[in-house]
This record gives sequence, structure tokens and C-alpha cells, in this order.
Amino acid sequence: MCGIFGASAVDNVIPQLMTGLGDLEYRGYDSAGLGALKNGRIVRRRAQGPLASLAQLLETEPLSAGTAIGHTRWATHGEPRRHNAHPHATARVAVVHNGIVENHAELRAELEAKGAQFRSDTDSEVVAWLLDRELAGGAPPLRALRRVLPRLRGSYALGIVCAGYDERVFAARRGSPLAVARAGRAAWLASDAEALGRVAHEMVLLEDGQLAELRPGKVRVFEESLQEIEPCWRRIETSGGVLDRGQHATFTHKEIYEQPEILEQALAEFRADLAAGRAARWCGPLWRAKRIVAVACGTSYYAAQTARTWLERVAQIPVDLELGSEFQTRQPILAEGTVALLVSQSGETADTLAALRYLRSREVPTVALVNVHASTMAMEADAVLSCRAGREVGVASTKAFTAQLFALAAASIAIRKLRGNASPTELDELLATLSRVPDAVRGAIELEDSCASVGRKLAKAQQVIYLGRGASYPLALEGALKLKELSYVHAEGFAAGELKHGPLALIERGTPVIVVAPSDATFNKTLSNVREVIARGGEPVLVGDPHTASIAKRDGLPCIATPAIDSLWAPLVMAVPLQMLAYHAACEGDRDVDRPRNLAKSVTVE
Ligand code: AGP
Repeated sequence: MCGIFGASAVDNVIPQLMTGLGDLEYRGYDSAGLGALKNGRIVRRRAQGPLASLAQLLETEPLSAGTAIGHTRWATHGEPRRHNAHPHATARVAVVHNGIVENHAELRAELEAKGAQFRSDTDSEVVAWLLDRELAGGAPPLRALRRVLPRLRGSYALGIVCAGYDERVFAARRGSPLAVARAGRAAWLASDAEALGRVAHEMVLLEDGQLAELRPGKVRVFEESLQEIEPCWRRIETSGGVLDRGQHATFTHKEIYEQPEILEQALAEFRADLAAGRAARWCGPLWRAKRIVAVACGTSYYAAQTARTWLERVAQIPVDLELGSEFQTRQPILAEGTVALLVSQSGETADTLAALRYLRSREVPTVALVNVHASTMAMEADAVLSCRAGREVGVASTKAFTAQLFALAAASIAIRKLRGNASPTELDELLATLSRVPDAVRGAIELEDSCASVGRKLAKAQQVIYLGRGASYPLALEGALKLKELSYVHAEGFAAGELKHGPLALIERGTPVIVVAPSDATFNKTLSNVREVIARGGEPVLVGDPHTASIAKRDGLPCIATPAIDSLWAPLVMAVPLQMLAYHAACEGDRDVDRPRNLAKSVTVE
């Protein structure tokens, strides 16, 4: 995680760096800092807390420079305090780093023994000191980098300025994303290509092991051996979505409200592609799979878990589910004919990316479902599917989740069509029921007032339990994750049928229990679990459809009821009230909804 942004230009770049860091703040907001070259010397400004604190510092201690690097931090090693803020610097060099130097302790001991005086608790500072030693020995910056990089174990995207090397910024990448760009009399670097969209039209996504040198209007790219290579320029494609909250109090609220349009638009494209015989656009090589292994983390994992039902029931392909963070450790058996599906909003999540690389090394075809197209997964996977959510700013995934669900629902139908094992009537029926989703989601958004009143109560709870069966089970997990990350209230999701095998012991008088219970084949069983909760003093709130509401009314239970929807696609609709419950619990607790504490949107460390 962490975001880095840098520039070499003729004119002052500090305002653009601050804007760029603002665009990258989703990667971390524990501290922020700038390092610039002024008359051949390194000058820094660093502040604890979000970028706004750095902006405030710049009011009292202004900075203007044409060569500078900046950083917004998500703390891994060392508390989120000013002395740990990047850039880390010596008199000769300043470094911003995204990634983890795994062998930092040995390197630090070695450097300290040679007289280096560390000023932070970070792993990153070793990079500054290693470079300092090389520069002190007379190596020019690129040669110094060439000697230092092989000594680093772990991952890095680095931005570097060196005293005496005005108008030059150096960059290197291994394992963490880094893009470079040029425009007019400036050259730029950033952790994600989209952030460069404000300052340039073309960029190079550095590959692992590559280095770059930026000068005003010029970018040179090198292999680790310092062999210069012809960079592969691409247009900067932004995933759309103006960075503006509009009438909404937060980006998260805006993103929740964007869902009906996103789904409507995706549906229109899907229908047009099906009609034009372009079904493969929605599933890539998945349609030929004998077995699918789906790998993802967090909310994306719950999207994959929800979609397993569709891939098995509609596409009729068996699916194995794997957490990105466990995948390599487990080294699962990959049967002949397996196609891998990697699900990731950012396309950068380190654990999922590591799984993708492992799968490719095992010659398993890989399909990445991503929201960010200029991402490492999109670049490295054999095929890319788009989740079409547009840029998601809120750290908690909302619209990307339902867009992932839609993309996977569409993939299941596309596979079914391509395999030719469904009659036209069956396909029409699937499409007709899926087509009702956007309106039902619109109806679900109208439930905000009831969600707000339940959400406010959840904010005061010690713990909240979420239950669901079948396709609603991953939604229960997702609902609990959303509440945890947005409101910091402890929440756990369980398969409703598992309640009696242990979790029931958690229920006390007044424990809120959110039960995801659309009227599907599991409804009556889930209702029995609700009764078990009531018998122990728990206070269930049902989330379901009009049928759920009628049963809830009969039994005197509170219910949040969305418009009716075919039970197969119900998760796409039920997700919305769960998001709004968490959102309003967070508002009640006065949380920073768009930027929950300790988290970052793109998790680029394992
Ligand atoms: C979502 O609300 C979370 N912040 C988080 O679980 C996220 O889904 C996870 O880190 C995976 O990210 P990705 O989709 O970008 O791979």
C-alpha cells in the first residue's frame, strides 16, 4: 500500500504532487510527506495524519520545486508518526517506498555498524542508507541503485531524488506497482496509472525489475542490468467517475447510490453482446473450464463465494474457492482443465497477485475480473473481465461488490450459452430475471431511512451477528465485514445452520442479529434459526423481500424488505441494505466513512 507520486519538471510541481497524492490517498493516510531538490540539496516536509495535515504544514513552511517526490503512508513497520513518514533521507538521498523490505533488520544492523544513524522505525529507511553508502563511494545514482536493489528482499516501488542531481528523479519497481509518464516539460511517476491521468495522456507501467530515470519531458527505462530499453507507452485509461462527492456527504454514500445506474449500464452492454454473439467477452476462457478455481481477498472473496452458486448452478462448472492469502501456502491440487478466476477491484492486491503468478507458473489459464484496468493483474492475466463499477474511492467496497456480482452473474449466463447446454427459453428466462436487478436495487436504495434507524442501533451494540444460508451466507459475511470496517463495531457472519454448532453461545439478551433471508428454498430453515435466536434473547432484524416482510409482520419481527427479485439473483439486491446498515452505524459513531482507520483500499503487501 502507500502511494507515491513524483516529478521532474522545469516549473514548480508541488501543487500537482499534492493533488496526485490526494488521488492516491486511498492507498494509505497515516502520514504524508514531500522531498524536493532545492539548489542541489534535499528539503523535506512531513506530517503525521492525512494529506490535509501536510497541506496545512505547507501553509506555514511553503515549498516550491521542480524536482520532488511525495508519499502517502499506510503503516507497516513503525507507528503512524511523523518520524516514520516518508521520504526517508540522508544528506545525499531521499526515498519514498511502497512495499516491504523483508530483510530490513539485518540490513539495518549492518548499516548501523558502519555508522548509519537511523531516524525512523521503518523498513524503508534502509534503502536510503544503502543508497547513501553507494553515493558516498562515488557511484552515480543508477549504478548505486543497481548495487542496492539485489540486496532488498521483499517488494518495492521506489521514487528517489539525489543531492546534486537536480531535475532528475529515479524509480524502481519489484512487486509493487509503479507507472511513469511524460508530458511537455515534465516527467512523472505514480503508484497508479490513473493518478497520472491529470498530468499526462501516455504512460509506461514499469515491469518488475525495471528502473527509470525522469528528466523534464523525458523518461528513460532500464532493465535491472541498466541496459536501456524502449518503453512500451500506453494511453492512460481512467475507469471514469469524477472525483467529486456531488450532493453526498461521503464518497461511500455516493457510491452506494450509483449502483442502479452501474448495473443498468452493464446489463445493457451484456444484452447487446449476447445478441451480437459476443458472449465470450463476459467469460473469457472460463467457458472451456472443467473446473474453476476462484481466488480473491476480502469483499472480492465474498463476491466470488456468492457467485459460486451461479457458476455451479447456471454455468454448471464446479468451483473451488481460495483466499488469496492462503492460496500459496496451501498449494492446492489443480486438476487438469482448471481455469483460474482472480477477482479484485484494484487488480493490485498482493495476495491475489501472488496467486495469479503461482497459477501462471503452473500453466493454469488465468482470468482476472478487475475494476482497475491499468493494474498489474490486468496486465499479467491471460484474459481480463471488467467489473464496470467506475472508480471507487471509499475504502469499503460497495459498488464494486455489486458490479463484481453482476459481472459474475453475466459470466455464468454467457458460459451456459457458449456451452450450448441451455435451451433458448432457459436463457431468455435467466436474462429476463437478471434484467429486473437494477430496478430492484433502485428500490433497495429507497430503504435508506429504515436502514438508518437500524444502523443507529447497531452503532451502540457490543457485537452484531449476521446470518445467512446458501447464497445469503457470503452476504452475511460481507455484511459483517462492512459493519466492522466502517463502524468498528465487532461483527461476525455465520452460516445460519452453523449457529447451533457454537456461535449461539454469543447470543445474549439484546444482541442484534441481522438475518439475510430472501424467500428462497432455505427460507423456512433460516426462520427456525431466527426462533433459536429469539429464544435466547437475541434481537433479529430480517433483511429480505416482500414475502420475508409478510412473515416478519405475522411474527412481529422487524424487517427491511427490498422489492421482489428472483431468488437466484437476490444477493445483488440484498447487498444494498447491508451496505446502508453499516454506513449509518458508522455515521452514528462519527467514523471517517471513506477512510476507516488502519485500512487502505489497495493492499499491495502480503
Ligand atoms: C472491502 O470493503 C475491503 N476494504 C477489502 O476487503 C477488499 O475487498 C480487499 O482488500 C480486496 O481488494 P481487491 O478487491 O482490490 O483485491
